[in-house]
Amino acid sequence: MKLCVALDLPTNEENLALVKSLKDFDIWLKVGLRSYIRDGQNLIKELKQINPECKIFLDLKLYDIPNTMADAASEISLLGIDMFNIHISSGKVAMNTVMQRIANVKDRPLVLGVSVLTSFNNKDFKSIYGASIDKRSIEFAKAANECKLDGVVCSAYESKDIKSVTKEKFITLTPGIRPFGEDSNDQKRVANLEMAKEQLVDFIVVGRPIYLSKDPRGVVEEILKRI
Ligand code: C5P
Repeated sequence: MKLCVALDLPTNEENLALVKSLKDFDIWLKVGLRSYIRDGQNLIKELKQINPECKIFLDLKLYDIPNTMADAASEISLLGIDMFNIHISSGKVAMNTVMQRIANVKDRPLVLGVSVLTSFNNKDFKSIYGASIDKRSIEFAKAANECKLDGVVCSAYESKDIKSVTKEKFITLTPGIRPFGEDSNDQKRVANLEMAKEQLVDFIVVGRPIYLSKDPRGVVEEILKRI
């Protein structure tokens, strides 16, 4: 299991200071909407300058018409990042178009499909998607698998079931991890490290429990020890 640290801090300087302080750990870095909108491609370059070996997950959750998503995916593939994501609910045509467009990119990044956001509870999810999280997350994962995505973003609670209906090595990446039972904030389907391990999760994403801690290095060290 790999740890992916979310770089969601209020300034570029704080993100970079965090990355420098964690430079010697074997971790992935997640660049999401806040940081990418503010700091853009320059942030990717700065992260590579701090650690040329670092692995980057660009979490922009593409959702648009198929051609627009494929155009964006092909631009993303040129950024030197290692993984990005698209919404599964954008549909099979969109997912297939994206995968076809980047199929011949050398060392193409991994592509994950966002299934059910970890901030949803069953009631709120049902009011929009018309079905339970359990049911839809399996259907979404099967669709992503059929469209040859590399894996999905899901909650730790769904990981094992998803792996049982998808190809071998289908990746599950789970945000909403509260390693040692910290505050869940806006996340609804949170899990700790034991749950993530038991559910065979490949990547855990941890943001606030690390960057809001007084000792981010200590938290990362403890997480790495336990996984
Ligand atoms: O601070 P916290 O650990 O809750 O951060 C979780 C990170 O994972 C955030 O950057 C959030 O945008 C991202 N994420 C998520 N749920 C998803 C996909 C990404 O929480 N389904």
